[in-house]
Amino acid sequence: MTAELIDGKKAAERLRGQVAELAAAFAADAGRKPGLAVVLVGEDPASSVYVRSKGKATVAAGMESFEHRLPVDTDQDDLIALVDRLNADPAVDGILVQLPLPDGLDAQAVLTRIDPDKDVDGFHPVNAGRLATGLNGFVPCTPYGCLMLLKSQLGDLSGLNAVVIGRSNIVGKPMAALLTAADCTVTIAHSRTKNLPHHLAHADIVVAAVGRPGFVRGEWLKPGATVIDVGINRTADGLVGDVEFEGAASIAGAITPVPGGVGPMTIACLLRNTLVAAHRREG
Ligand code: GUN
Repeated sequence: MTAELIDGKKAAERLRGQVAELAAAFAADAGRKPGLAVVLVGEDPASSVYVRSKGKATVAAGMESFEHRLPVDTDQDDLIALVDRLNADPAVDGILVQLPLPDGLDAQAVLTRIDPDKDVDGFHPVNAGRLATGLNGFVPCTPYGCLMLLKSQLGDLSGLNAVVIGRSNIVGKPMAALLTAADCTVTIAHSRTKNLPHHLAHADIVVAAVGRPGFVRGEWLKPGATVIDVGINRTADGLVGDVEFEGAASIAGAITPVPGGVGPMTIACLLRNTLVAAHRREG
């Protein structure tokens, strides 16, 4: 292996430390802690683990965590009613509805119901629009964490060729918007892209977010490329990313491991967004 490992765990610890300090200062000024409400519908094991770690990290950062666990057969109206209550609750600065929602619930309708000023996930169309047009809003946590890792690894990203693999609203699209705003030349590839190796051969930056284990082969990469692997795929061999790690690590200049790369940054950015929401609400 020749690539440098990008230590997302360490970067996330640093960010969480900074957020904790600022959260303490906020609490001293405002007379209350920043508050994050997390809603989980159903008992999907992976989502349960994420929600538990978000709650723990929130408390560890000196913030208030409000956890709402609803049964899998919760109906749309009850979920919307909970979002309305959280929107109106002055102790709640940020609201996160864990995705995916069980079948039968309309995720887009629920996300659109969240007050955009409490939308710390950055999934509301208003915040997606703000990001697309360069206005201040909330940026989805995973791509924001990826951007922070890229900037700390490479410094100025201006003029670099970036290929984002995946076009989801949660990662691919906002990632492409952030890299465009950072003056990269951005290509959005996805599972239907023809001749992905052709695009990757010119990519200084690769962000892989397709959700397919080992989808990106090491030999497709430009030597020295910086590779951010967003994939978290559960396989018989354990957790693996979207990038075939061994091959990529022998060609890339730097790469994030799975786990310990992007994952920890997502939670740290969520805490950061919650702190920002609290400050904005206090004016
Ligand atoms: N499910 C997977 N990633 C995320 C995320 O960043 N936010 C929410 N709400 N659900 C998710």
